Amino acid sequence: DARVGNGPETATGPTGTGLTRTGPAGDRPLEERLAEAGLRLEVDGAVATVTLNRPERRNAMTFATWRGLAAIGRSLPDGVRVVVLRGAGPSFSAGIDLSMFSGDGEGFADGSDAEATDRFIAELQEGYTWLRRPEIVTVAAVHGHAIGGGFQLALACDIRVAADDVKFCMKEPALGLVPDLTGTKPLVEIVGIGRALELCLTARTVHAEEAARLGIAEIVVPRDGLDAAVDDLVASLLAVNPGAAVATKRLLWEAPENTLEQQCAAERREQAGRLRDLFGK
Ligand code: ACO
Repeated sequence: DARVGNGPETATGPTGTGLTRTGPAGDRPLEERLAEAGLRLEVDGAVATVTLNRPERRNAMTFATWRGLAAIGRSLPDGVRVVVLRGAGPSFSAGIDLSMFSGDGEGFADGSDAEATDRFIAELQEGYTWLRRPEIVTVAAVHGHAIGGGFQLALACDIRVAADDVKFCMKEPALGLVPDLTGTKPLVEIVGIGRALELCLTARTVHAEEAARLGIAEIVVPRDGLDAAVDDLVASLLAVNPGAAVATKRLLWEAPENTLEQQCAAERREQAGRLRDLFGK
């Protein structure tokens, strides 16, 4: 999604707030750096809530946003079991901040250095990949627009709860880009290749009813019921045995890649761990 910067130190968001701009990550408190990146993190016991917090820009995302998400993943306290991602204001996220494509391109390269390009995008993808860690269950609370990088962020979560005003759109191909923030794999796994192609190559919008039908959203509720629905889901997730939750998430995410035989073996292995935990002396 991102054109390639000349390195992490020069790649900044449109507001000049690349997380690395002011020096090594440890220089200033995480909270302050996240605020500059348009992010807010609240940890309440076992639940962390990450809010995309640039409502005046419809939570458009910059390089700083993606680095900030990665920093949250790295710094999450051990006791956190559920992470909720939500957007402040009218939308979840309008995707990449389009102002990064305007101007004279200062701080950008053209992608001709393949290795640097690869490293650069991999660093941004780290903002999304931690959401799959088995130690946490991640829930996207999606309302309004979830476009491009915003749609991919929702897809990076384990479960999507959507408001009935949701509008998902994989806009990247319309802008000459591919979706590269980890979204192509979950999209294909959820809707199949044919539907994924149709959605991406037309860059059309998927509304709530279709999102529910396609399995893009597990739960759809009226807009004013979104917070309550997420609270209910979180309470249910926390009510399950923590060790079983971790083992089951690990098992389920392995399933699509495994043969039946491999998956049966994985079930036996995980269950042995559970039995040791529950009944072992
Ligand atoms: N980047 C930068 N600014 C944005 C973005 C964005 N992606 N999206 C919205 N904004 C800004 C608008 O420019 C506007 O700023 P202004 O108040 O200074 O005029 C403000 O946010 C509010 O946006 P509106 O368009 O007025 O809000 P509205 O609710 O009518 O529409 C919508 C929201 C549909 C999201 C529209 O803003 C839009 O289409 N945005 C662009 C979406 C896009 O193409 N994203 C890139 C996806 S591809 C990828 O992520 C790699």
